[in-house]
Amino acid sequence: MFQGDFSWISGETLKRTHYCGQVGKKDIGQKVVLMGWIHRRRDHGGLIFIDLRDREGVVQVVIDPKEKGVHERSKELRNEFVMAIMGEVVARPGGTENPHLATGAVEVHATEIEVLNSSKTPPFSIEKENETTSEIVRLQHRYLDLRRTEMQENLKTRHRISRITRNFLDEQGFLDIETPFLTKSTPEGARDFLVPSRLNPGSFFALPQSPQLFKQILMVSGFDRYYQIVKCFRDEDLRSDRQPEFTQIDLEMSFIEREDIMALMERMIAKIVKEVKAIDLPLPFPRLPYQEAMDRFGSDKPDTRFGLELKEISSIALASDFKVFKDVLGKKGEVRGLNAKGLAGMSRKEIDDLTEEAKVHGAKGMAWMKVTEKGVESPIAKFFAEPLQAELIKRFEGQPGDFLLFIADSPPVVYKTLGALRLSIAHRLNLIKPDIYHFLWVTDFPLLEFDPAEKRYVAIHHPFTAPMDEDLPLLESDPLKARAKAYDMVLNGTEVGGGSIRIHRSELQQKIFSLLGISPEEASKKFGFLLEALQYGAPPHGGIAFGLDRLTMLLTGMSSIRDVIAFPKTQKGSCLMTDAPSPVDPKQLGEIGIKLNLPSA
Ligand code: AMO
Ligand code: AMP
Repeated sequence: MFQGDFSWISGETLKRTHYCGQVGKKDIGQKVVLMGWIHRRRDHGGLIFIDLRDREGVVQVVIDPKEKGVHERSKELRNEFVMAIMGEVVARPGGTENPHLATGAVEVHATEIEVLNSSKTPPFSIEKENETTSEIVRLQHRYLDLRRTEMQENLKTRHRISRITRNFLDEQGFLDIETPFLTKSTPEGARDFLVPSRLNPGSFFALPQSPQLFKQILMVSGFDRYYQIVKCFRDEDLRSDRQPEFTQIDLEMSFIEREDIMALMERMIAKIVKEVKAIDLPLPFPRLPYQEAMDRFGSDKPDTRFGLELKEISSIALASDFKVFKDVLGKKGEVRGLNAKGLAGMSRKEIDDLTEEAKVHGAKGMAWMKVTEKGVESPIAKFFAEPLQAELIKRFEGQPGDFLLFIADSPPVVYKTLGALRLSIAHRLNLIKPDIYHFLWVTDFPLLEFDPAEKRYVAIHHPFTAPMDEDLPLLESDPLKARAKAYDMVLNGTEVGGGSIRIHRSELQQKIFSLLGISPEEASKKFGFLLEALQYGAPPHGGIAFGLDRLTMLLTGMSSIRDVIAFPKTQKGSCLMTDAPSPVDPKQLGEIGIKLNLPSA
């Protein structure tokens, strides 16, 4: 007898007829066979109620004492037992419908039940969604955690986003082509995960940080319009929106300009948001040049769901007697501030806390003014003559009750600090409303930045990004001023995607390598295959990659990327369920010619 098929009762093989969560009014009067887990069991003296759950939801099963054998057997049932249940769908008696449940208008009167498997008592409740189980316990027992409705919904949304993406790209003529995982370093600014080669002792593969070089090579091969939904690997410090292995929606096109890619991609994203959230996004998305994003929001991934924009006040500061500001301005610094609307009531302690927060981001202090009916109230008011105070209030559109704060420092510190304070004030003022999706493009990034630790230029995107044509002369005269043909897509303050038009001429690529301090020998060793391929008729091309995990996290309203990945890693980069990474057998190490040399504990 096949368990759960009930052939022993009716003489015919009965298979599962419905998902629990899909039983409804349309099925009233029908005999159904359901299979699922016991979500909850209530014994009401005579009647026993079982909420039976599967991936589609929960349905109420009723066991009547009249069904003697079934009733007797159901006494031993516990939460999370796996059951097969046969019964009839009936309308719930008037007044007992449950409007919160998709199946709430009906119930199944069981005529036969069978335990397919028992279950130990789970270490946390699957049924109580709001329970504050520690994430460690959840990750150790991920198979149970994934049974929770929230996680089931998250992974279904993730599936839908991939499916919509694939359909969209397929309709647009993109080809899905796989690229290798065992490969050579593809620099995206993180450390590589290395894999030793047994057949080539002493040599290592690197897991790809992205398929960047392969997709460019595919353009050289003529596969205009490539895409892949693909794992990428980056050994970097983890945060709530970063994982060491994560998934990109990665694509590349030939014979296109920036605008072509951006227009196509925002249509794809709008389609996803429409199908997943039933929201119509206005197109085109706003485009914000990098410098404007920094000046107005202090960030290259601004959250534009609220205002609190930064304002430059160097000219007013210069006319004041405030030495702190004037000294900074004398050293090529800047003074900027923002108006924390309505926060003049902050206590001294709250102001001190905010100042400490500013210092965490590198600022030396935080100057402030409370706007009152009579003007301003501030320890530094005395340094600003009344017309200057009035000018400041005007610049910030200050109203009585507002709190103006200022940071004076080098531009990077001013942006970083005010960008962070802006976010924390928005949280404090509860300005961020749920279910609002502000997408935008940030464009015109600088091509390079100076890395003081390495004392050399580094690429802001990656070394394969093309400079703006009109900025090519700047590569000689003032490289930091050269802008890139790059674009990032930002959603609610998170970078969800980034790409660029690429360099398709070998000479320019070599020039950029040399600007980045990569010698011709090193370039040839690391990227010789690319430099050579570019010499065989490489077409103009460009592309983009989205973080599928991040996009899913934002569209499901989760605050951690781990909640949209079936089997994620912890902040320390380990998997608590399988206990990976773990030590390996010395024999295995011997085969790949590796001897450990760990610092003694
Ligand atoms: P980039 O490095 O910007 O570009 O990556 C593209 C997108 O991938 C997501 N992402 C991550 N998500 C989770 N965890 C991580 N550790 C992580 N790192 C990146 C982000 C990001 O916007 N080859 C280029 C793309 C191109 O130029 O076409 C690239 O990889 O959402
Ligand atoms: P001080 O003259 O050092 O007592 O500073 C006076 C006020 O200016 C204090 O509120 C400091 O927090 C603030 N302050 C000091 N340095 C800076 C700076 N670089 N930018 C903004 N405010 C500052």
